[in-house]
Amino acid sequence: MSTSTPVTPVPPPLVELSDTHVVHKARSGGLVTRDRVYALTGADFTVAPGETVGVVGESGCGKSTLAKVLVGVQPPTSGRVSFRGEDLWTMKPASRRSAIGTGTGMIFQDPSTALNRRLTVRQILRDPLDVHRRGTNKEREERVRELMGLVGLPRALADGLPGQLSGGQRQRVAIARALALDPDLVVADEPTSALDVSVRAQILNLLLDLKERLGLALVFVSHDIQTVRRMSDRVITMYLGRIVEESPANGVTDAARHPYTRALFSATPGLLDPIDPIPLVGPVPSATRPPSGCPFRTRCWKATETCAVAMPEFTAASIPGHRFRCHHPVEEGRTTRDLVTQAVTAVPDTPSDPQETPVAPPHTPKDPREP
Ligand SMILES: Nc1ncnc2c1ncn2[C@@H]1O[C@H](COP(=O)(O)OP(=O)(O)O)[C@@H](O)[C@H]1O
Ligand code: SF4
Ligand SMILES: [Mg+2]
Repeated sequence: MSTSTPVTPVPPPLVELSDTHVVHKARSGGLVTRDRVYALTGADFTVAPGETVGVVGESGCGKSTLAKVLVGVQPPTSGRVSFRGEDLWTMKPASRRSAIGTGTGMIFQDPSTALNRRLTVRQILRDPLDVHRRGTNKEREERVRELMGLVGLPRALADGLPGQLSGGQRQRVAIARALALDPDLVVADEPTSALDVSVRAQILNLLLDLKERLGLALVFVSHDIQTVRRMSDRVITMYLGRIVEESPANGVTDAARHPYTRALFSATPGLLDPIDPIPLVGPVPSATRPPSGCPFRTRCWKATETCAVAMPEFTAASIPGHRFRCHHPVEEGRTTRDLVTQAVTAVPDTPSDPQETPVAPPHTPKDPREP
């Protein structure tokens, strides 16, 4: 008789990015060759069923690009995006539309532009059911009623147009539409930043409640990093198109090892112990001319010549599920106060002007979809 302990099967990731790049054509550049924008570079990332992953990073670092890649509305320039183990972009277009349409839902920042203003709430919610031919006419009507109940919209609003609703109600319609086909993954890109402060908490609570009730995986993108931390199981930090750290959410404020994550979280300290944020003094590089090596090196107080040579690979931290990409990570146990002192007294070791530093495109795509 075998004495080996039974192995609990690990569910495969819902969505997986492997060395995924997105390069846009910029509006700038010459007449013949436009500049390239390195919006997402070498992303390796998975989302497991039922987990909430928060995405943080400053404006322009690629959060929305990552969100769109995850729900299959942005094709990668190169690399792989798989959904339930299947490569989305080698599928036939009809299979891809079906996999994306029924398996994922996306909630955008501004519900006033995301919803068709000429359609009633009922029509907006029926549309995905009609497109994917879900159930009979009667079942679709029933599903519309169910969805409105799920997101707390009164039935009387079914014949209202988006323009007749409040911002919070419009976002509830957008959430209901994202849930119409019972997806496993919902990606919410800054879902509350266009809303009045007074309704933000209600929408966040609704998302959390739905996630629990429906067992959804949720990717939550926001520049409100404290909300991301509270909402998420895991937080990823992005900088200039790169994922630079992945950390369990509960320790991210004080246990993050990447200098940029620490700087980001230090900018919104707890009310009980307010301190100045870690100062970042160097120039902010552009996504059309990312610095060679580590993209954060022009602003990092710990940067050395090594950081200009190569982008560090991921290093596993001592906590399971925590990894970071840094040549000189923050030492374990360092407080934010220590890091402020370190940053204030640091002498730059690398050239600080990105125009004077070797600039290396992080990747030269060979894919025919290259812009
Ligand atoms: N369609 C596009 N064409 C050209 N550049 C784009 C396009 N979409 C995004 N970008 C650029 O890609 C970078 C990442 O953008 P985005 O993913 O929207 O960042 P974030 O959501 O973090 O603000 C930015 O430099 C942005 O200007
Ligand atoms: S120490 Fe170097 S590798 Fe680490 S974040 Fe700073 S510049 Fe990047
Ligand atoms: Mg964005």
